[in-house]
Amino acid sequence: MSAVVVLAAGQGSRMRSGTPKVLHPLGGRSMLGHVLAAAAPLGAEQTVVVVGSGREAVTAHLAQIAPLALPVVQEQQNGSGHAAAVALDAVPGLSGAVLIVNGDAPLLRTSTVQALVEAHRAAGDLLTVLTATVPDPTGLGRIVRDEQGRVTAIVEERDATDEQRAITEVNAGVYVGDAASVREALTRVGAANDQGEQYLTDVLGLLVGDGRPVGGHRAADAADTLGCNDQRELAARRRTLNDRVLDDLMRAGVTVVDPDTTWVDVTVEVAADAVLQPGTQLLGATVVATGAVVGPDTTLTDCEVGEGARVVRTHAELAVVGPDVSVGPFAYLRPGTRLARGSKVGTFVETKNASLGEGSKIPHLSYVGDATIGEGTNIGAATVFVNYDGVAKHHTTIGSHARTGADNMFVAPVTVGDGAYTAAGSVITDDVPAGAMGVARAKQRNVAGWVGRRRPGTPAADAAAASSTPPPADDQQGPQS
Ligand code: UD1
Ligand code: MG
Repeated sequence: MSAVVVLAAGQGSRMRSGTPKVLHPLGGRSMLGHVLAAAAPLGAEQTVVVVGSGREAVTAHLAQIAPLALPVVQEQQNGSGHAAAVALDAVPGLSGAVLIVNGDAPLLRTSTVQALVEAHRAAGDLLTVLTATVPDPTGLGRIVRDEQGRVTAIVEERDATDEQRAITEVNAGVYVGDAASVREALTRVGAANDQGEQYLTDVLGLLVGDGRPVGGHRAADAADTLGCNDQRELAARRRTLNDRVLDDLMRAGVTVVDPDTTWVDVTVEVAADAVLQPGTQLLGATVVATGAVVGPDTTLTDCEVGEGARVVRTHAELAVVGPDVSVGPFAYLRPGTRLARGSKVGTFVETKNASLGEGSKIPHLSYVGDATIGEGTNIGAATVFVNYDGVAKHHTTIGSHARTGADNMFVAPVTVGDGAYTAAGSVITDDVPAGAMGVARAKQRNVAGWVGRRRPGTPAADAAAASSTPPPADDQQGPQS
């Protein structure tokens, strides 16, 4: 394959969205990203992407996902034929077979494109179009064949006769052609159609008129050929893509408890004998190891989950969850979280840029930001790592086998040594040496008999008076309240 041309300049007006159509995401890639990924294994020397509507955003996206692809601007969207001509003009030296593909075909798979290319080669055609027979061809170009079954034309629905509209074989918008022949035929494509646009599909009829060989190749799986023109189709394509991903995972030994509510991007890896509970979303570069249980109701973006880990009702991004770690329920792991083997982040805990050593635990109601915690340490409930002074972020270091009290504030930068303890309710502003007990709270005093004197006749006073452990005699005057 000498070149791949992706047509991605159309406005996608039927999407009714400010986002260019080909940038809409599904299954972990943009629509354009899926098309490029399907074509990549063909190893084309050149990839040309026609951009127009929303070109800045599309070009910037292209630079990220396919920096070697050449973006070519189609100033005015005069139709798919015009777009293809603009693309071929940008690579004048091109010869041999070129794959031209609509940018709105996110379900296209490499195997389908390869089968099209092989059919094209085997038949020795100048142009071969990918087709599919679908139950509802509404809105699509129809494949017209003669009595011998040879493809003679592609007719858009809006230009079709009633008889042609009844045809259920449609144009997938994927073509392999001889570059020189397509280039030449494109110069002859007119705009005498309902939309007044230059249709790429007319190239086929022109070549047939010349008596040149053209063909159609039916896709093995019609789903591969489905385009995406509005939000309802986008949702349907996303669902199909997800079904494919889950099918592959289940075939490979992953347990998916509820495929209807489990969403996994095409870029995710899940090992055999991992379990995905209902309501799980695995996104981006997430990797889940064997024996891990994820969910229910968990969203992991670009995360690593180790063997045998449990991640329950959790929202996490760019976090590394080690083997046999327990996370959740109701945990929020933010970027830079690293949880070593056997550690635990429990309920209503938020972490960010925090390393937790082997077997350490943050069980309840805490915020741990910019922290390094050693092995075997327990962080008391309701602890806040006070990392931000309003200007800069600071780091807290807690050693190994430390026991920090409940309701502590660690005002960073601060260090608590190995084996140290801190008292409940402490605001730790100074380092606590190894083995020390850090206490940083006001000393308690009791004002005996205060309730009886100050709140006489209340249920509290009556209860105090009736108590089997009556208050000691007055020894001091309490504060006014
Ligand atoms: C097109 C085909 C139709 C086929 C269907 C498959 C034409 C005339 N019709 O219809 O036969 O059944 O795809 O999904 O091609 N584009 C440009 N520049 C333009 C116009 C379009 O780059 O000036 C791009 C679009 O971004 C899109 C592709 O070409 O990726 C097809 O355009 P679209 O408007 O989606 O055509 P359909 O009506 O879907
Ligand atoms: Mg389309």
